[in-house]
Formats: sequence, structure tokens, C-alpha cells
Amino acid sequence: MKMNIIAGALTVCVLAAPALAQQGADGGNAQLSVQAYKAAEYPGLAGLPGFSEKLIGDHLKLYQGYVNNVNALSDKLAALLAGGKERTPEYAELKRRFGWEFGGMRLHELYFGNLGGGAPGPGSKLHKAFARNFGSLEAWKKDFTATGAMRGIGWAVLYQDKVSGRLFNAWVNEHDAGQLAGCEPILVMDVFEHAFLTDYRLERAKYIEAFMGAIDWEAADKRFHD
Ligand SMILES: [Fe+2]
Repeated sequence: MKMNIIAGALTVCVLAAPALAQQGADGGNAQLSVQAYKAAEYPGLAGLPGFSEKLIGDHLKLYQGYVNNVNALSDKLAALLAGGKERTPEYAELKRRFGWEFGGMRLHELYFGNLGGGAPGPGSKLHKAFARNFGSLEAWKKDFTATGAMRGIGWAVLYQDKVSGRLFNAWVNEHDAGQLAGCEPILVMDVFEHAFLTDYRLERAKYIEAFMGAIDWEAADKRFHD
């Protein structure tokens, strides 16, 4: 079983209070004290069947870029706001960009966090929920696989609606379009080409097959609320 050392970026964040002074409600300057994100580490993915060391290593480097950009954008937006430049095109564009970078960071953490081949799934509470929501495990798998095989770059995400408890397989375009509001990501599969090109060239179907065989069902189960 994979070692449970998936340190979520939020839980290992380090204090990095940017030296930014922001106008307080009383007109005074308030010193901001926010936490910078730190890239999580996933040593348990070494030797993962179906995923070469180079593929995982390159993918983790790319993920680290998202973490860096989230921190940089956060600082830039705070600086623009503090400088009274919040009504500028630059502010608006960076604000839009933030959702893309943050989505890229968090979706990668969820993706790496549900890889690793944990306990066999058929007895899990999530597998039982597949029967209720899709008819069977195989029916869920058929839909999730078809979602991941869609043309385009993005993510296949199994969500649980926190309101109704229902499960949905959704397509998230790039990192920021198509996410289901108020739903919890339970299982995340990256289908950007960088996620498989090194090992599978353009054969996305073979990559999806490898992913399905490498799911850490225990991790997915923990995200699911019965
Ligand atoms: Fe990726």
C-alpha cells in the first residue's frame, strides 16, 4: 500500500507573509499575513505500474509550476489592490487567470493523491454507491472512461453532490470550466496530453486503462461521504 504521505499543499503550507500593506477598513494600513502554498510530494508514486519514472517526474515538475503561479498571482493581485489598481485590465486578467492556475494546482493534487493502487475496491462504500448511481461498477467505469476519452484537454472527475449525495462523472475543460459547483471531487483523472504522451504517445485509451488499474481506491473512498 502506498505510504500515506500525500501532504496536501494546504496542510504543509509555510508561512510566507508577503510584505504588502493593504488599506484597512479604517483607512489605516493593514499588514497582510497569508500562507503561501508549497508543492506536495508524492514519493509513493515511484514505480507505479503503467507510469514511467520520467512521466511522473515531469508531471510533478509541471504541477510545481502551478503552485508557484498561484503564489505569484496571489501576491500580484494583492499588490494591485493595495496600490489602488483594482479597476485595471491587468487586475481583471490576473483575476481570471487565478482560477485557471488554482484549478491546475488543486486538480493535480487530487490526481496524484488518488494514484497508487491502494486496497482493492469492490468492497468499498464507493463501489456500493456506483450500483445505486450508475447501476453497477462496470456502468460507472464505462461512463468515466468515455468522459476521459472525450476530445480535448482537461480532466475526468467523479464528483459527489454534497446536497443530494449523487455521483456524477464530469468533464472539466482545461482546469476551470465545467467544475460542478458545490460538489466534492472524489476521483480525478488528468487527460491533458502531458499526462500520458511520454509513455503512451497519442494512445489515450491505453493510458486510461493504466490509470484505471492504478487507482488508490482507499484514497477515493476517504473523499466520499456515504
Ligand atoms: Fe497534468
